[in-house]
Amino acid sequence: MKVFVSGAEGALGTEMTRLLRKEKIKFLATDIKQLDITDFRATNKVLLDYRPDAILHFAAVSNVDTCEQEQNLALQVNALSTMGLAIIANKIGAKMLYTSTNFIFDGNSEEPYSEYSMPHPISEYGRTKLLGERYIKDICERYFIARTSWLFGQNSKTFISKFLASDKKPGSIDVICDQFASLTYIDHLADAILRLIKSENYGVYHIVNKGIASWLDFVLRAKKIMRFKTTIRAVKIEELNLLAKRPRFSPLASHNYEFLFSCQMKSWEEALTDFIKSLLRKP
Ligand SMILES: NC(=O)c1ccc[n+]([C@@H]2O[C@H](COP(=O)([O-])OP(=O)(O)OC[C@H]3O[C@@H](n4cnc5c(N)ncnc54)[C@H](OP(=O)(O)O)[C@@H]3O)[C@@H](O)[C@H]2O)c1
Repeated sequence: MKVFVSGAEGALGTEMTRLLRKEKIKFLATDIKQLDITDFRATNKVLLDYRPDAILHFAAVSNVDTCEQEQNLALQVNALSTMGLAIIANKIGAKMLYTSTNFIFDGNSEEPYSEYSMPHPISEYGRTKLLGERYIKDICERYFIARTSWLFGQNSKTFISKFLASDKKPGSIDVICDQFASLTYIDHLADAILRLIKSENYGVYHIVNKGIASWLDFVLRAKKIMRFKTTIRAVKIEELNLLAKRPRFSPLASHNYEFLFSCQMKSWEEALTDFIKSLLRKP
């Protein structure tokens, strides 16, 4: 198998390429410096030359506030580039895997969202990622849509992952306490993506660790395990005056993955322990 990865220097792309290397699977990894996926002609040429068996399309404008501020960029990268890659995947007969998000839901549910729940995004990030999903479904013959939520891990650029990985922790931090979702350890997501692309079980998947939490729950649990001194202050989302609206309650239920692959995702608490162990092994 030969794999093409877009967004390879992002949080998920970095872990995925590490895993592909470990599994001795050939791949071509690109990020914006090597190949801007909004350039369809260039992308078409690179992929027609390389002819991968699977495309892992991770490149995105993943910062939700940036998407609100730069709506055209979000449309180009999250949606139109996805259409381009979907067309190319069909031309070369490659499997297509697109990573989507819990932010395609509005957060007004009382229960975790299933693969068949009705999307209703409330932000530009959610809207453009959902449009990307629609292009994939309309164009691709063999696709996987892997929706995931609140990634954490070694290479994540998000504030909480960077805080946990840092040797010099601040005296106090503010952490959001009134938004609830699924958490996902990037290493577990990469393992699941590898299983998906090795299979012919096409369709929509929710790939997250089990359980529901706020970022405050997550950090308090990490504090218990790591025993750092930083004071954790609970803040409400509205106190932060963020640009983009976020769903209040958007956990995902991984029905399809667990059914079709006869496995269980670990809980977020176990996943956090795995992450902390990996930090301790860090050179
Ligand atoms: N992070 C989460 O919590 C989360 C949750 C749900 C779903 N997802 C989805 O999972 C996927 C991976 O997320 P991630 O956290 O790994 O994101 P990430 O760290 O932001 O990585 C995305 C990568 O794509 C690159 N990129 C942006 N525009 C590009 C372009 N025009 N051409 C080529 N590359 C481009 C980015 O470069 P720059 O950094 O230079 O822009 C970045 O290296 C994304 O599809 C995201 O929507 C993420």
